[in-house]
Amino acid sequence: MYKRVIQFLAVLALIYLIPTAYLNYTEQVEHWDWDEIDLNDISFPENFIWGVSSAAHQVEGYHTSNNWADWENQVDENRNPRIARGEKCGIACDHWNRYPEDIKLMQDLGVKSYRFSVSWSKIMPEPGVVNHAVMSHYIAMCDSLLAAGIEPMITLHHFCHPMWFEEMGAFEKEENIEHFLRFASEVFIALGSRVNYWCTLNEPAVFVIAAYFDGHFPPGKQDPELAAEVLKNMYLAHVKVYERIKSMEGGDRVHVGIVKNMHQIDPMNDWNLFDRLLSRTVNKGFNGSFISTFTKGVYKFRFPTLVDLEAEIPNAPYSLDFVGLNYYSHNAMDFSLNLDEALKTRMYPDETPTDMDYTMYPEGFYRAIKEISVLNQPIIITENGVADADDDIRGEFIKKYLYAVSKAIKDGYDVRGYHYWSLMDNFEWDLGYDERFGLYEVDFETQKRTLREGSKEYQRIVKAN
Ligand code: FCB
Repeated sequence: MYKRVIQFLAVLALIYLIPTAYLNYTEQVEHWDWDEIDLNDISFPENFIWGVSSAAHQVEGYHTSNNWADWENQVDENRNPRIARGEKCGIACDHWNRYPEDIKLMQDLGVKSYRFSVSWSKIMPEPGVVNHAVMSHYIAMCDSLLAAGIEPMITLHHFCHPMWFEEMGAFEKEENIEHFLRFASEVFIALGSRVNYWCTLNEPAVFVIAAYFDGHFPPGKQDPELAAEVLKNMYLAHVKVYERIKSMEGGDRVHVGIVKNMHQIDPMNDWNLFDRLLSRTVNKGFNGSFISTFTKGVYKFRFPTLVDLEAEIPNAPYSLDFVGLNYYSHNAMDFSLNLDEALKTRMYPDETPTDMDYTMYPEGFYRAIKEISVLNQPIIITENGVADADDDIRGEFIKKYLYAVSKAIKDGYDVRGYHYWSLMDNFEWDLGYDERFGLYEVDFETQKRTLREGSKEYQRIVKAN
């Protein structure tokens, strides 16, 4: 009997405990001892780019013919509105009209770069047709920024595209990339001489998971195979836009990159081998597919029983002048035999929560920089910020996350700039107006902007460095 028990324990140790202990030793979810850290021990290189970030649909207002304007008028299968509390984007921050005032807010912060997106649906109300008045608006905006000593950084696709593009299947079809190329070329013709930094696509993996995997972004599909295909087409679209811009006059002078959110998916319980396997698989799909596309030119998206797609995008590793990194947090996987439950991402109970389902996890920022550095490209932080309506933790967030960036730079990682998300409160997609990411609080009744107390940490660090 004893012998049986010992044999059983030995087998258990071999197939479960030893591998788990090994993984716990080699692959720990990193945590730092903040009591031992001096948060003032930060420094940034001389030409470090300090900035703020936004996106057209979230701040401009007056979007009537893009995928999101359509989505906010729909209901789901239970007749619930698509946007929290049935909110509509409406005039948002009226940034379309108030950008001169908003540029002054940037100057007060001391930042020298503004990352924003241009609205494809406003610029091209119909396929191939340019609205020149709208283009002139963006030209004037870039000129005002430059006159204020702030460099514009443009994103061409930030979760939004015209409804006509959505109706033809958007990035579901490879042949539709042609329309995005046409749009990118028109914008580059108009703004190329004013803008040095170009982001082709914002967070394609976030967009695709939300729009085609779990369906809370338009077009609300839940189709893993289609999701894998759309993500592949978006990476392909990036490569094509890169090559197109480079072939145009002035293209060799500008920097073109893609923006990746390196949100990590970690195991909830280090001693649960199934949590580990699941988190690895999801992490590979979400982050690994990007890394392998842009290092090896091989796109792989796999999830057992759901999807298995591999495709070559051979020019991808040669299609970057920099990589834009967005970072907020990590989430945990808690294994379950029920697939829906298993695929839910969860917060770590012992980390400080924010208003969104993200915890404060500055260590992950360091990890993200390290993970994306395998691309061997200059890294520009294109987004980082916190939803904190009560402004309780914003100051601490800024200090800790910037400590992580400074440490990464000291350790040799090539980080060239940082953009805080966001300049001001705005429309947070399906979550509506309650998520308050702004350095400036916006009163949406009066459009008054007020600098939050916690944001003064950012202003202080920018001015000191
Ligand atoms: C990022 C998006 C940005 C904003 C922040 C909070 O994933 O790029 O538009 O919603 O999250």
